[in-house]
Amino acid sequence: MTNFLHRSVLYQECLTALQPYSGGTYIDGTVGAGGHTRGILEHSAPDGKVLAFDRDPTALEVARAQVGASADRVTWLQASYADMQLLAPQNGFVQVDGILLDLGVSSMQLDTPSRGFALRYDAMLDMRFDPDQPQTAADLVNTLPEAALANVFWQYGEVRNSRQLARVIVNNRPITTTIQLADLVSANSPRRNKRIHPATQVFQALRIAVNDELGALERGLPGAIELLKPGGRIAVISFHSLEDRFVKNLFRDLSRDCICPPHQPICTCDWQPVVRLVTRKAIQASDEEMQVNPRSRSARLRVAEKL
Ligand SMILES: C[S@@+](CC[C@H](N)C(=O)[O-])C[C@H]1O[C@@H](n2cnc3c(N)ncnc32)[C@H](O)[C@@H]1O
Repeated sequence: MTNFLHRSVLYQECLTALQPYSGGTYIDGTVGAGGHTRGILEHSAPDGKVLAFDRDPTALEVARAQVGASADRVTWLQASYADMQLLAPQNGFVQVDGILLDLGVSSMQLDTPSRGFALRYDAMLDMRFDPDQPQTAADLVNTLPEAALANVFWQYGEVRNSRQLARVIVNNRPITTTIQLADLVSANSPRRNKRIHPATQVFQALRIAVNDELGALERGLPGAIELLKPGGRIAVISFHSLEDRFVKNLFRDLSRDCICPPHQPICTCDWQPVVRLVTRKAIQASDEEMQVNPRSRSARLRVAEKL
């Protein structure tokens, strides 16, 4: 279990960004195995408080065990961070000092064969963060029209032969297991890179679609910024260029002090910026971290401070 803790991506960088202090209030929107939350609790001892979200009830159980005696400073919610603007005040978190979003799937979920996230284990094609959600990856694979399936592969996975794969899949339905899908993709894809299985991007795309990960970010990030106190900070770690682009653009737009058309000589908009950019460029994992945790290679951390 401690393995999960040591693998929290950009752990020190997140704590440096959030600067937790005793008495502060924090939201971890994606608590996972609780590594970052434990760090926030340690740095905000003895009375900092955390509101911890995860859609996955197993993650909440593991995180609660990980933080040990500090668990009584945490309010645990099995819910989507996308709804935090509504749920945080209902749980006593009206304005907060810091918010963390560490997006995507956890190593714990990937390493649990029965969750169906990983192509190396034979399991039902599931991939739901929230096991109560009705739609699984198998449902998408077996019911989406061919063009929509191709679109998922292209948009969320940048799968080059997305249309061809969608056609093959539709012709081989029903597909119910991870290995069945991985083998089918493998048999119908050119092997460009010996180290990366050709189905890796297809699995990623399906996971993003099943859990509507981009929709959650688009709904949740503006609401999260609303919840920050002046001087409060938000740190977002993304693992996909679409997510990172959304975070970057929203932070940039909210940090503008003028929205007049560029050709207008004098500013008349009276626009007030909402945040200050703490990171102008995304922070990436160090070489050391990438060696220990290859998943950190694609991590990008962006931080903004509420004005
Ligand atoms: C990368 S892990 C977080 C790891 C965590 N920071 C740690 O240190 O252990 C991402 C977690 O976010 C959860 N998650 C993904 N989308 C979510 C959403 N919309 N709302 C709440 N939790 C979500 C996943 O279930 C997963 O447990």
